Amino acid sequence: MKARYLLIVLCLVSHITVTLSSVVLAVIAAVASVGLYIYNTERDGLLLFDSKRLEKDLRDSLFGQHIASDVVLKAVTSFMTDSKPNKPLVLSFHGNTGVGKNYVTKIIARNVYEKGDNSKHFHLFVPGNYFPYKEYSPAYSAHLKKLILKEVYWYIRSMFIFDELDKMNPQLIDTIKPFLYYNARVDGVSFRNAIFIFLSNAGGNEIAEVAQDFRRKGKDREEIKMNSKELETKISQSIMSGKSGFAQSILIDHHLIDHFIPFLPLELEHVRQCVLAEMVHLKIKQNFDLANEVAQELLYSSTEEKIYADKGCKSVREKLWIKIDN
Ligand SMILES: Nc1ncnc2c1ncn2[C@@H]1O[C@H](COP(=O)(O)OP(=O)(O)OP(=O)(O)O)[C@@H](O)[C@H]1O
Ligand SMILES: [Mg+2]
Repeated sequence: MKARYLLIVLCLVSHITVTLSSVVLAVIAAVASVGLYIYNTERDGLLLFDSKRLEKDLRDSLFGQHIASDVVLKAVTSFMTDSKPNKPLVLSFHGNTGVGKNYVTKIIARNVYEKGDNSKHFHLFVPGNYFPYKEYSPAYSAHLKKLILKEVYWYIRSMFIFDELDKMNPQLIDTIKPFLYYNARVDGVSFRNAIFIFLSNAGGNEIAEVAQDFRRKGKDREEIKMNSKELETKISQSIMSGKSGFAQSILIDHHLIDHFIPFLPLELEHVRQCVLAEMVHLKIKQNFDLANEVAQELLYSSTEEKIYADKGCKSVREKLWIKIDN
């Protein structure tokens, strides 16, 4: 009889212990997951978004790109201030070389993350570096998909920049597609807070033609609007008709891109501003004459009027260095 009681007591105690230990385990798991969530959302500092700060940054640091400045400000602000966006922000930057496409991704990053483009949540893919061999495309695709999934799983406000998209394999571009849909969830991960930006030279010549056309008609550059001469449609058509990976991918067909943003070709005065900005960056006294000298040394030969800098503000720093060194 005693043994039976003992057995019952033992059973009860062990049951309570098991129940208690599962409760303790559940509590530990809950605390850990909350901790992990906080850790993952807090680490690597997300800035409190301030549209005025972004506006000022664009105004002070980006020259000659009134359309890009305006559209980026509006698109990023409405996305960052929306507590429940229904899709990721997807932008596509177009324009010839050295006109500020990569630069604007850095401006956005420094207004989103404390560490700006040094944040571990800022991912820049350059096809030549990341996906150099065409024959490995299936492997690259699998790797890219896994990487994007993992990054967004751990950090919802991740940013992915795909540089030289026109040189990217269409198969790889299509890997990105499922992440861009409305209410996109891939393998249980929601992509509604992520940012995707595509950069390419595609459409650059069409943009330059529109700018030139305005100029010839004596119109002010600032009068060019996103819908002037159907600029956005022109860009997307030019991309579609080209032989680039972009054209062959199904990204555009599905209207997954929120904005095709034109970057205008830069003129002498913009290059001069770039040189002056470089002087500030290099902590040397701003010198207008020297800035003018450096800007004049660049080539302006791409169009009949020789108005637009062939390489935009690229290599301005190097030119300035040579001048200072002499
Ligand atoms: N519109 C601009 N305003 C201010 N600085 C600029 C502008 N465009 C270019 N720059 C300067 O020139 C550098 C090179 O520009 P950037 O890398 O953004 O060119 P890009 O448009 O990405 O060219 P590519 O198509 O060759 O990659 C930038 O880091 C920046 O310092
Ligand atoms: Mg670039």
